[in-house]
Amino acid sequence: MAPPMELPTPAADLPAPAAPASPAKALTPLVNSIFTSSTLSFHLNGQPITLQNPSPTGTLLDFLRLSARLTGTKLGCGEGGCGACTVILQSPSPSPSTQRPECVAVNACLAPLVSVDGKQVLTVEALGTAEAPHPLQRRMAEMHASQCGFCTPGIVMSVYAAVRNAESKGARWHIEEEELLQALDGNLCRCTGYKTVLEAARAFVVEDLGGVVVAGEGSVQERVERTWGSASADRKLPSCGRPGGCCRDSPDAESACESSGEDKTQISTPATTPSPPPVEVKPSSPHTELLFPPALRKQTPKPLCFGNSEKIWFRPVTLKQLLQLKHAFPSAKLVGGATEVQVEVRFKGCEYPVCVYVSDIPELKMFSVDEQRGEVVVGGNTTLSVVERECALWVSRLAKRGQGLEALRRQLRYFAGRQIRNTATMAGNIATASPISDLNPLLLGMGAKVIAHSISRGGEVINTTEFFLGYRTTALPADAVITKIVIPLQQSDGREIVKTYKQAKRKEDDIAIVTAGLRVRLGEGDIVEDVCLAYGGMAPVTVEAKNTQQILLGKKWFDPAVLEEATNAMEKDFDLSYSIPGGMPTYRKTLAFTFFFRFWHEVAAELKLGEVDASLISDLPRDTPFTGSRDHDNPHAKAIVGQQIPHVSGLKHATGEAEYVDDIPKQEGELFGGLVLSTKAHAKLVEVDPSPALEMPGVVGFIDHHDIPEERSLWGAVVKDERFFAKDTVHAHGVPIGMVLAETAEQAQAAAKAVKVVYEDLNTPLIISIDDAIKADSFFPNNRILKRGLPIEEALSNSEHVFTGVSRIGGQEHFYLETQAALAIPKETGEMEIWSSTQNTKETQEYVAQVVGVPSNRIVARVKRMGGAFGGKELRSIPLPCMLAVAAKKLGRPCRAMLNRDEDMMMTGQRNPFMAQWRVGVTKDGLLQAFDADVYNNAGHSLDVSAAVMERCLTHIDNTYWIPNVHVRGHVCKTNIHSNTAFRGFGGPQGNYIAECVVTTVADKLGIDVDEIRWKNLYKEGQLTPYLQPLVDWHIPEIMEELKNTCSLEKRKAEVQEFNRKNKYKKRGLAMLPTKFGISFATACHLNQAGALIHIYTDGSVLLAHGGTEMGQGLYTKMLQVCAEELQVPLSSIFTSDSSSATVANPSSTAASSGSDLNGMAIKVACAQLNSRLLPYRTKFNNDMKAMAQAAYFDRVNLSANGYYKTPGLGFQWGNYKDPLPLYSYFTQGAACSEVEVDVLTGDHVVARTDILMDVGHSINPAIDYGQIEGAFVQGMGLFTMEETLWHSNGTLFTRGPGTYKIPGAADVPRSFNTRLLKMPKSQWKNLRSIQSSKGIGEPPLFLGASVLFALREAVKAAREGAGEGGARETVVLDSPATCERVRAAVGGGVWQRMKVEREEGRSWVVCAQGVSEGL
Ligand SMILES: Cc1cc2nc3c(=O)[nH]c(=O)nc-3n(C[C@H](O)[C@H](O)[C@H](O)COP(=O)(O)OP(=O)(O)OC[C@H]3O[C@@H](n4cnc5c(N)ncnc54)[C@H](O)[C@@H]3O)c2cc1C
Ligand code: FES
Ligand code: FES
Repeated sequence: MAPPMELPTPAADLPAPAAPASPAKALTPLVNSIFTSSTLSFHLNGQPITLQNPSPTGTLLDFLRLSARLTGTKLGCGEGGCGACTVILQSPSPSPSTQRPECVAVNACLAPLVSVDGKQVLTVEALGTAEAPHPLQRRMAEMHASQCGFCTPGIVMSVYAAVRNAESKGARWHIEEEELLQALDGNLCRCTGYKTVLEAARAFVVEDLGGVVVAGEGSVQERVERTWGSASADRKLPSCGRPGGCCRDSPDAESACESSGEDKTQISTPATTPSPPPVEVKPSSPHTELLFPPALRKQTPKPLCFGNSEKIWFRPVTLKQLLQLKHAFPSAKLVGGATEVQVEVRFKGCEYPVCVYVSDIPELKMFSVDEQRGEVVVGGNTTLSVVERECALWVSRLAKRGQGLEALRRQLRYFAGRQIRNTATMAGNIATASPISDLNPLLLGMGAKVIAHSISRGGEVINTTEFFLGYRTTALPADAVITKIVIPLQQSDGREIVKTYKQAKRKEDDIAIVTAGLRVRLGEGDIVEDVCLAYGGMAPVTVEAKNTQQILLGKKWFDPAVLEEATNAMEKDFDLSYSIPGGMPTYRKTLAFTFFFRFWHEVAAELKLGEVDASLISDLPRDTPFTGSRDHDNPHAKAIVGQQIPHVSGLKHATGEAEYVDDIPKQEGELFGGLVLSTKAHAKLVEVDPSPALEMPGVVGFIDHHDIPEERSLWGAVVKDERFFAKDTVHAHGVPIGMVLAETAEQAQAAAKAVKVVYEDLNTPLIISIDDAIKADSFFPNNRILKRGLPIEEALSNSEHVFTGVSRIGGQEHFYLETQAALAIPKETGEMEIWSSTQNTKETQEYVAQVVGVPSNRIVARVKRMGGAFGGKELRSIPLPCMLAVAAKKLGRPCRAMLNRDEDMMMTGQRNPFMAQWRVGVTKDGLLQAFDADVYNNAGHSLDVSAAVMERCLTHIDNTYWIPNVHVRGHVCKTNIHSNTAFRGFGGPQGNYIAECVVTTVADKLGIDVDEIRWKNLYKEGQLTPYLQPLVDWHIPEIMEELKNTCSLEKRKAEVQEFNRKNKYKKRGLAMLPTKFGISFATACHLNQAGALIHIYTDGSVLLAHGGTEMGQGLYTKMLQVCAEELQVPLSSIFTSDSSSATVANPSSTAASSGSDLNGMAIKVACAQLNSRLLPYRTKFNNDMKAMAQAAYFDRVNLSANGYYKTPGLGFQWGNYKDPLPLYSYFTQGAACSEVEVDVLTGDHVVARTDILMDVGHSINPAIDYGQIEGAFVQGMGLFTMEETLWHSNGTLFTRGPGTYKIPGAADVPRSFNTRLLKMPKSQWKNLRSIQSSKGIGEPPLFLGASVLFALREAVKAAREGAGEGGARETVVLDSPATCERVRAAVGGGVWQRMKVEREEGRSWVVCAQGVSEGL
């Protein structure tokens, strides 16, 4: 390892550097003269904090969680992509005329600690507590806006910031719907589907604040002033409704605040402290308003310098100080918002020993418009939110001269999320020179200039045309600082038009695939006088389409011949190769042309050069206000069961009090585990040498396969085919090789990187995709076949038509917001307590016992709650606690680890990608006759549960359709990718998807409406599935009929047709799909059992334990309801603490949508025992549990009961076609109808409306069931339309975090989202024997997300028909996920063909594990 760089000594009492070297020499004079203070002062939740020479490496999040012990702020990704770490930064208003502090939501995981000096940090703890919540927190909980709760504190803070910034209009609080949505565009939630989040935020404004949420109205300036406030206005704001009053209630609030400034917290951090010292933060009183501390208004910012011998921070407060620093030491790293730098440090291994925080320099933070000079000057480190706001204010004032500013505003609207825009700066974007920067093409297109300053050269102007030299390389001199960006205004004659375009995988908070800033000036006769077409995403650097520009100059705009010439030129400009970095060559070229094509027409329309198709130049309707309904009436409700009771932890989620594994207070002597993961996908391990790591500070030990005896070194879900630590070879990237144990997470992770691993490539070819596996004949043994009816060839030949197809569906990352985490606490001789974020305490306990070599009775595996799981913590959660247990045993100290998001995505597996090659035989009327398929899934390097996933796929491949003759075969592919695993639906959605591909193909081929095909092939009551289970309580026909009526299917179909007839470039599609989902653990029959343990204490309180785990699905809440109903006690008297292998032995993992069914029944059995023992006391004590329990206790009656349940009747055996037992207990059924609008030119879309109707039997808690339905639907929508897992051809996972892997955000949910539950009296559940006659609901609705894909497919068909490219009989192949690229490829057409970059075998930049889609 290189010796640490020598740095100057900050003013605190630090040891002097050993020997002077250049940075020290260069910077010490400045440290001694200017940067004399190393003390950071700020307020945290109302309390002053002073840190002397704090650690230079941590972020604000590290400080909050580790030093201040405020664990309400969560770590979800560490890269600014999820919003779980959102806090508010309040700073004094920059304008002396207004007292209103700036209040911005920021990502604490990116914010350097230095950025808080002189500001107030507000965390979720400042708002309220579960006992005294803030009204916003109460709304979130009461309106079911949290499920697992891991995202909730961040969401609360984002909404709170937006609301605090909102202005009043008259006496009413006034916020735009758009602003609320924007406030959430940097917050991800994987559970709720966002509907309740938006509703709770709205209810808070309307009901608690008495305000209004408006859909955009008025002029832009009015709207902006209304939501952001004008620079000069300091209007009186109404109270925020907080209990105990609001600062806005009281005119002398300031003085109240001053008095709170007395109690100073002083912490001195020695430079070498291994773990961050705790900071005493008093719990904030929820009845004290969050005032902006007057002390901070008075605090004069001063130059700062702090750090240690490895890293040092400077915080200059004037430009002069900054320039002096840069002059003295040009390689000092400037840091603005840190949104780029922190990602480089955390994920790209960049080390910046000298950092200079530049965002507190007033000269760099300005925005001014000089109409006379015709320019706008933006300070280099003005935040993007401020630029966005100022642009919005100025565009209406400047009218035609403000075209460029309007383009900038539009571009910023979809630049990252709100938290990023609140800190990121223009200079940061420009200096990074990313080839997919959003701003650079526009700045270049507009002819902007960069003003740089340095002491050596003074001020200099660099044209953006000369600024970007190469991949992330600029013309900025090393010692210079970007001080300003000068953007020209357009001339007032309106003949100069500027537009910007961007296409990303997700509309909000996503990096562009292609982005463009296009400008043209037309002279007399519409002749092009000046033009600039600048693009991002088309080259390693922001580029101009120079050939096209050349062609256009001097030519007449809107002349078709010129357009043709320009198109030819653009092909030359962007002659992309198939293997270009980033991939998608055809799509990129198509987008580049499309943007120009749209610009061509927009210019023509604005300058009235001719007739322009309105559908070409309009945007997709994204600003439609969000609406949503639930039917809310439950005829089956009882006193407690059936009521819409909020999640029992809802308030704790919203206040940040809910504790997850990493929130458990640090144990005495605790160590942190940093994983050494394989960086090769298929190689021999020649050497693993931990010695460099062991020499690093804080490192205590290292474990690998040597620490687990060979006979105990294997694990697996069904077959033990995986090692806890690799030995000799690795067969996938991201496989654990070892673990370094150190005092802190930071040290452990740094040391893990230092472990030397030498590989030797294995010379057999790498297998990544299903196609690769077929070619290499690489399969796990699997013989699952389903056969029914005639021999399939005969059945097919008897059919009037036979159609064939290939259907592909990609994998899906679980993206639970809480990554995998565990804590192993060694106890007395061999005992160990394990806290783990797991759905599976049983196998956690068993495997920990195995690796540490003790019987299971010495191990207690516990989990209180998970921050989401979705199947990803059913099995892949097992290795981490096992490794930690090995370490804890070896080192005799508690050991903890929480995976980084990239580690989690690399090593814990995903949903299995699938591919099916099928043939279907049908009558001429579309009746299904025969179905034959070879179905493949990609298991990865080990089997895990992939064979069981295949079984469920095969048994769901009929979806809801009767097919008399079936022959389907499952093949489980062995590949060199991570081991794929359980994921909500477990093969069911993939099976249903294949069925719908078949049905839609049949419809297309026969030219029959697909709904008719669906309808006429639906199963009827009592018919047999291919595995010969009769369908009873069959409600699908009824559900389809009801949904069709309630969502006005036929009428809307006609409307869609009409829309499509009128709009050439925007097409709508509508699709209604059914689903049935079998509930049980299928052929893992032994798992269909559960236990419960209930204690009644003599104060009448009840402790309920069961084998189920809480991952956000509301199981604890439902089980408490069942228990309360059975025991006839109030819900509040029952409590569940956690799920532990010590209270309920051998629990099945909470999965297969059967948690409520199994555990609910076990609880019922236990309650029945208690009820029978308490019967003699019921009448006497009038059901008063306290009195009954006391009397029973004195009578020596056992007040504890253990309940046990196993699902009766199951026992299907594969291959038994004679007298098979049922495979599933029953089927949860439902249907959804979705409508989309597609931009034909880009493949982009919005979901206009979704209606869902589900049969959940007698719901135990409709609120939870609605939440499960909506959350599953949105997750399914992600699976089928957006979420794409990609590998590099060397087997490394490309999509490793929220930056590259996109799950749906709040703005992606259907604009109108309506959910209903099937009701009696029509429906009968005569055969349902489940708890309270309810049905499992966790997984079944997920497939309904595919209704969006099939609606997109309809829109694609309409586009093809509109373009005269194939009529209804042309089969559209739209593989899943139907990303914008796939939709555009499916639309096809002349432009796509013209831009086509031919596929070159083995040369694609990224690989899909399901194989290559047609047309790409
Ligand atoms: C979650 C997430 C989403 C993102 N989304 C987008 C997006 O949609 N579009 C997009 O284009 N980018 C996006 N980015 C990238 C990033 O946010 C932008 O590049 C941002 O503008 C960087 O600004 P910053 O102030 O945070 O830069 P920093 O990280 O502080 O610095 C970046 C670089 O700029 C240099 N620098 C900063 N200030 C100056 C100065 N005054 N003079 C000279 N050099 C300077 C730094 O030394 C460093 O090299 C995203 C990043 C994240 C983490
Ligand atoms: S943890 Fe900060 S944004 Fe995800
Ligand atoms: S509740 Fe939002 S991620 Fe779980």
